[in-house]
Amino acid sequence: MPESSTPSARETETELKTWSERVDRVLERWLPAACTHPATLHEAMRYATLGGGKRLRPALVYATGRAVEVAPEHLDGVACAVELIHAYSLVHDDLPAMDDDDLRRGRPTCHKVFGEAMAILAGDALQALAFQVLSCDPQGPQDPAVRVRLVELLATAAGSRGMAGGQAIDLLSAGREITVAELEDMHIHKTGALIRASVVMAALTAPGLDQGLRDRLDHFAKCLGLAFQIHDDVLDVEEDTETLGKPQGSDAARDKPTYPRLVGLEASKALARELHAEALESLEPFGPGADLLRGIATYVVTRRH
Ligand code: IPE
Ligand code: IPE
Ligand code: MG
Ligand code: MG
Ligand code: MG
Repeated sequence: MPESSTPSARETETELKTWSERVDRVLERWLPAACTHPATLHEAMRYATLGGGKRLRPALVYATGRAVEVAPEHLDGVACAVELIHAYSLVHDDLPAMDDDDLRRGRPTCHKVFGEAMAILAGDALQALAFQVLSCDPQGPQDPAVRVRLVELLATAAGSRGMAGGQAIDLLSAGREITVAELEDMHIHKTGALIRASVVMAALTAPGLDQGLRDRLDHFAKCLGLAFQIHDDVLDVEEDTETLGKPQGSDAARDKPTYPRLVGLEASKALARELHAEALESLEPFGPGADLLRGIATYVVTRRH
């Protein structure tokens, strides 16, 4: 078997750009044109989704596809759907009732431009569109049972036992002392669930995949999701607003429990590194087909925004 290895940062960034451009084209195809009635809502949906963002979740979908030998055209719908859920979650996360942030992806947040009511509706409609894409994409899995399972996985990851549940824990925890176990639980849900779903859903489209390898990918994504949010907490302390494209210090301003606050900056970074190592270890049985996943894992804990 050919040697597998973690690609260099530059190689990973070049790949990420390719996948980001690909999912942008898919998103562009599915999002209604800005002039479609009611135009303000469609403009807000497009504003929240297009033009910015790392597109990390779609990249994980395509990279998992490469690891399990599913062609990208069969994964466009899944990649698009996870990004739509993510974009919706950011619009709602920034609302005054939640984190009350004015800057996202280097631009004013959706509610700053379109007003709160329209931002809420844009989020709602992006979520609905995600499920429409997943169920209708003509190039998606032809087996109806696989389609339904994909819908179920995304719904669970987005709902009260996934992202929305984690966001509720986040809001209920502001200004309170919570334990590290509670913080981990919050992070696993608010951010980890959708990252995990991105990998697990892509793996599901390879019906013949060995269960052991499927479990390995799931564990990889679980470690990566938590590492991602720990690193996000670290960036909120260490980076500047311009680099982040979102307000630095937002967590402290809202008195949010974060890893740096609970365990300190250095311990947070060490934990992210440990999770990164565990994620890579999970990929050991995979050959060079999983190198992009390896590169993305490293990117997640070294990125500056
Ligand atoms: C930000 O996610 C929200 C969190 C889950 C921490 P990303 O850092 O992936 O945001 P974009 O998509 O690149 O803007
Ligand atoms: C949000 O976490 C996670 C979501 C589900 C959107 P954060 O509140 O830390 O995300 P940022 O830092 O605003 O991007
Ligand atoms: Mg938040
Ligand atoms: Mg936020
Ligand atoms: Mg954050």
